[in-house]
Amino acid sequence: MSALLEAERLRFAYGPRPVLDDVSFAIGPGELVGVIGPNGAGKTTLVRLLAGVLAPASGSIRLAERPLSEYRRRDVARRLAVVPQDAHVDFPFTALEVVLMGRAAHLPPLGFPRARDLAVARAAMQRLEVAHLEDRALDRVSGGERQRVLLARALAQEPDLLLLDEPTTHLDLRHQAGIHEVLGELSRSRGTAVLSVLHDLNLAAMYCDRLILLAAGRVLRVGTPSQVLTAEALGAAYRTQVYVGPNDATGSLVVLPLVRRRG
Ligand SMILES: Nc1ncnc2c1ncn2[C@@H]1O[C@H](COP(=O)(O)OP(=O)(O)OP(=O)(O)O)[C@@H](O)[C@H]1O
Ligand SMILES: [Mg+2]
Repeated sequence: MSALLEAERLRFAYGPRPVLDDVSFAIGPGELVGVIGPNGAGKTTLVRLLAGVLAPASGSIRLAERPLSEYRRRDVARRLAVVPQDAHVDFPFTALEVVLMGRAAHLPPLGFPRARDLAVARAAMQRLEVAHLEDRALDRVSGGERQRVLLARALAQEPDLLLLDEPTTHLDLRHQAGIHEVLGELSRSRGTAVLSVLHDLNLAAMYCDRLILLAAGRVLRVGTPSQVLTAEALGAAYRTQVYVGPNDATGSLVVLPLVRRRG
């Protein structure tokens, strides 16, 4: 199976100090890949490079076997949707207007949304349980509701690849599970691939096919959750003691930071 996205030997720096160094990996259709690693490891920077927002200093990114740099923005948007870590919507658009923006790349130039665009947008809102917020201005919803609206916009884009930067930070337990069920279903039914930055290593263990562990701008490990989530690798990456054990409820792993008790 050929890769949907291939990153090869990526390097990037905001200033003199390298932020990403020699980062390589590939993602196939339908794969759910988690990017994990400590604060400042370079996860958001990697998402920005893959989204084409930043250009690598060296190395290459290929989307569907074509260099990302050769795509027009509109063609990228048909294949790839991004939910950034801190997405701002400056103007108080309603939730439905925001989700409909996800259809922009599918409309003719200067075209208005058609019945199908509206149907796709509403279906995405239903999947993320934000249909009732349709007419609500986005600056008048809660943090978690807003995050689900922005995910609905990404789904409405009907991409081959979803890039998500901490999509569950504001979500309650039910919606953390719900989002991952939606992503799993998209992967099975449409072959959508997902690259998701996650801080919750337990969610990463439960829902990801593969994990990329980044530390100080380098790939420390790539592999299945059980290959990557070891006390040794996590201890080295996060520079703290970590417990990794079996999760009897799911058959996946549990990961906990080990905090020494006083006394
Ligand atoms: N616009 C910027 N200009 C200069 N340095 C930056 C900029 N954005 C990020 N950095 C630096 O680049 C490094 C990687 O940042 P990045 O945001 O990619 O980390 P991250 O892994 O997403 O962290 P977090 O888990 O906190 O979101 C950090 O050292 C950060 O301080
Ligand atoms: Mg980040």
